[in-house]
Amino acid sequence: MSSKETVFFTGGAGFIGMHVVPMLLEKDYKVRIFDNMFRGDREAVAALGDDVELIDQDVRYGGAVHAAMKGCSKVIHAAAVSINKSQADPYESMDINMIGNHNVFAAAADHGVDRLVYCSSASVYGDPERLPMHEDDRLSPQTPYCISKRAGEDLLDFYHRRSGLSWVGLRFFNVYGPGQKTTAYYTSVINHFVNRIKNGEPPVIDGKGEQSMDFIHVHDIARSVVLALESEQDNKPVNIGTGIDTTIAELADILIEAVNADVTPIFNERDVIASRRAADITRAKEMLGFEPTIEVRKGMIDLIRAQ
Ligand SMILES: NC(=O)c1ccc[n+]([C@@H]2O[C@H](COP(=O)([O-])OP(=O)(O)OC[C@H]3O[C@@H](n4cnc5c(N)ncnc54)[C@H](O)[C@@H]3O)[C@@H](O)[C@H]2O)c1
Repeated sequence: MSSKETVFFTGGAGFIGMHVVPMLLEKDYKVRIFDNMFRGDREAVAALGDDVELIDQDVRYGGAVHAAMKGCSKVIHAAAVSINKSQADPYESMDINMIGNHNVFAAAADHGVDRLVYCSSASVYGDPERLPMHEDDRLSPQTPYCISKRAGEDLLDFYHRRSGLSWVGLRFFNVYGPGQKTTAYYTSVINHFVNRIKNGEPPVIDGKGEQSMDFIHVHDIARSVVLALESEQDNKPVNIGTGIDTTIAELADILIEAVNADVTPIFNERDVIASRRAADITRAKEMLGFEPTIEVRKGMIDLIRAQ
């Protein structure tokens, strides 16, 4: 029998999962992906090799989750439906994100796993009251997706108190990088701008383009997941971002440079409520030893030039 530890990974065939799995293999783990393949790519999973097993199942089925987790010492829970879908179909979102969360956490507590890493989201904050956003700031989740992410953190706290489950909840900011679907909620603006620029058309920006996001490369996100799986400290939510807010106007300039095009953004003068995002990453540094390694300009330029 193999002595390698097995990581149970819901949603492991998705965008972020496919960046995490190779890092787990590098660290000598086996990986059991539990994914209904709504988004995943079977051939890409098969190419990961013999230490990766795919269980084609749904987190909505608690019995299936419990049975499949047997023998695993660590859990990463990433299976979820997106914000867009959660607004269009709140029932499905509650089933997958809320009940799915509970099925995975209850099974992990029951199996006595060493650590559960939960993919939460910066969207739990809603519109921030101050920048940078700190984990102890007021939460104001606005959609079924965000509500379920917040509830997931509360449920983990319950299973910690009830059964001693050790967890880390990672509040990812605006993730971008190779393999991302072009429809991704926050980062779809990247594709929209790039398509226009490549056609020789200027990006059109509402207002002054002061709205900002904390863009973080998926490679750094994947590193944070592995660090959280092995960190000494636990049982808290942790922001994962770069700490730097990039405005939409700055993003347009970066993408024009990436495409090497001769266009100038057009500003659509009108009043826009400029929401801004930037993570306070002090806790990520202290608790996980996490530092982002890919600066936004370089990450975006490499991404666009590789397309
Ligand atoms: N990408 C981002 O910008 C971002 C930001 C914040 C948080 N997150 C969270 O990180 C996690 C991973 O995100 P991602 O971008 O890789 O998403 P993704 O959609 O690419 O991957 C999710 C995976 O879950 C699977 N899945 C969906 N419903 C399922 C179900 N009912 N049962 C089993 N598997 C199911 C999909 O097939 C897919 O492979 C999610 O929980 C997401 O909410 C992502």
